[in-house]
Amino acid sequence: MTPATTTKTKHSFGAEFRSGSAVNTAITAITDDLKKHQAKITGVRGPRDDAARVSFEALMEQFALVRGRPLLYPYIGSGLGNGPFVELADGSVKMDMICGIGVHFFGHGDPDLVAAALQGATGDLTMQGHLMANEDALACGKIIREEAARCSNLKHAFLGGSGAMANENALKVCYQKNEPASRVIAFNHCFMGRSTTMAQIGDSAGGRQGIPLSTLVDYMPFYDHAMARRMSAGDISGPTRVIDMAVWHLEQYIQRYPGQHASFIFELVQGEGGFNTALPEFHHALMEVCKANGIAVWADEVQTFGRTDRMFCFDALGLGDMIDVCCIGKMSQVCAALFTDEYNPKPGLLSATFMGSSGALNVGRRVLERLRDGDFYTAPDGTPGRIAKHHKMFRDHVGALIGKHPDWFPANHRVVDLVGGFGGMVRFTPFGGRKDAVLALCKACFEEGLILFYCGHDPYHIRMLPPLGIMEEKHWTTVFELLERAMTKIASTMGPFESPTPRPIHAGGNH
Ligand SMILES: Cc1ncc(COP(=O)(O)O)c(C=O)c1O
Repeated sequence: MTPATTTKTKHSFGAEFRSGSAVNTAITAITDDLKKHQAKITGVRGPRDDAARVSFEALMEQFALVRGRPLLYPYIGSGLGNGPFVELADGSVKMDMICGIGVHFFGHGDPDLVAAALQGATGDLTMQGHLMANEDALACGKIIREEAARCSNLKHAFLGGSGAMANENALKVCYQKNEPASRVIAFNHCFMGRSTTMAQIGDSAGGRQGIPLSTLVDYMPFYDHAMARRMSAGDISGPTRVIDMAVWHLEQYIQRYPGQHASFIFELVQGEGGFNTALPEFHHALMEVCKANGIAVWADEVQTFGRTDRMFCFDALGLGDMIDVCCIGKMSQVCAALFTDEYNPKPGLLSATFMGSSGALNVGRRVLERLRDGDFYTAPDGTPGRIAKHHKMFRDHVGALIGKHPDWFPANHRVVDLVGGFGGMVRFTPFGGRKDAVLALCKACFEEGLILFYCGHDPYHIRMLPPLGIMEEKHWTTVFELLERAMTKIASTMGPFESPTPRPIHAGGNH
C-alpha cells in the first residue's frame, strides 16, 4: 500500500516540500525500520524481566499520581505493536480486542497509518482548527461528507475533537432548528459521552452523580428481542407488538409535552448499554413519529461508525432518508457532527479552537479511504463483507465455548441471547451476566494477555471491538484460547453461577 500524500494541489512551496522526495524517502525509511521491529512482536508474552516489571509498576504509580486515580488496566504502551498485538512498556505483549474502545480498527502500528501520521507531522501546524486549517482537514472532512451524502440527506460534516463534543454540537443544531423546544428523547441505557449535558442524557446514574439536572430528557425503552419473542401470539407478531408499544410510548411523551421536543437521539446499536440491537422497523417507526412532529432524528454513531455492514449504521439498517443529524467518532480519529441543509445552523453556533491534530486528520483521512475502498462491507449483490465474516467467526467460537462449558453460561433472567452485537461490535454473556464475575473476567483476561472490556448493566456482557481492519481468522483461535484460560480461573474461584435477581425495566424522564 502506498502512503497517499495529503497535499493534493501543488501551487505552493508547502506542497512541494510535503510531497517531495526527501520527506517521502524519510517516511519510507521509518516505516521499513518499523516493520523490522514489528516482526519481533508475534504473540502474547510476559514482561522482559524483573527489572522491567518493577519499573513498569513505578510508571503506573506515576500515572495514578498524575490522574488522581489509577489506570483501569495496567496498560502503558511501549509505542510498538503489530496488528492485534501490542507491546507494553515492560516488554510484555498483549492481544488487543478492545482497541481503546474502538479507535484502532487497523490495529497497532499499521505502517500505512504511521506513514499518514508522519505526513501530517511535516506540516506547519500541530493542531488544526476552525480558524486555521490546512488541506489535510479538508481531505478528511470531504470523505466523511461524501460518504454520508451517498446514503442520506446529510450534507455537511463539522469536525471536532471528541464524541461528546460532536454530540454537543449536534444537540445545539437540533435546539436551534426547533427553537423553543427544549426537551430531548433518548433510549434507556444510552451513552453519549461525559460532558455536563451528555452525562445528563446518558442513562447511567453513576455518570451523572452530583451533576445538576438542567437538561430535560424523556427515556424510551430500547427494542427487546427476548420480549418480542415472548409476546408473539395470535395474528400479531411479537416484534409488531413491541414496535406498537414503543410508538404508543413516544406518542404519550409528545402529547404530554406538545411541541417541546427538539430531538430524539438514536444510538442505533447501543454501545456502553450492552451492544443491544433493534429491528430496523423499530427505529423506522419511531423516526416516522419524529418526522410527523418536527422532532430532529439524530443518530449517535460515535461507536457504530465504520464497523457494521456499511460505513454508517443507519445505511446498514436502511434508514438513511430519515436522518437529520449524525455524529461519528472513534475509528475516524477525528469526530464530526453531520447535518442536512435544513439543519445547517446560523453563523455563530458552531466553532472550536481544535478540529484535530494534523497527524489525526491525516490518519483519519487514510482510515476513511481504506474503509471506502476496501472489502469491509456487504457488497451491493449481498455478498458479506470482511466485517460480517469476522462477526460469524466470533459467534462460531462462542458457540463452541458454550458447547464445551455449558455450566459457564447459565440463562440470564433477562433471557438475552448469549451471543450478540452487530458487525464489529461483538458481545457474549458468560456467568449469567453477573457483574462481579464479568468484571473479574476482564481482569483475568488482561493477566492472560487478552485485552477486552464489558458493556451493559444487568446483565453485564464481555465485549470486543476488535481490530477487524487487519484481523485474520487464526487470531480468533488465539483469542479464545486466552479467554478459555481466564474463564477457567474465574469459574473455579467464583462459580457455580446462577441468574441474578430480576430487576424491573422502566422508562421515565429525569425531570
Ligand atoms: C455512542 C457514543 N456516543 C458518544 C461517546 C463519547 O465519545 P468520546 O469518549 O470520544 O467523547 C461514546 C464513547 O464511548 C459513545 O459510545
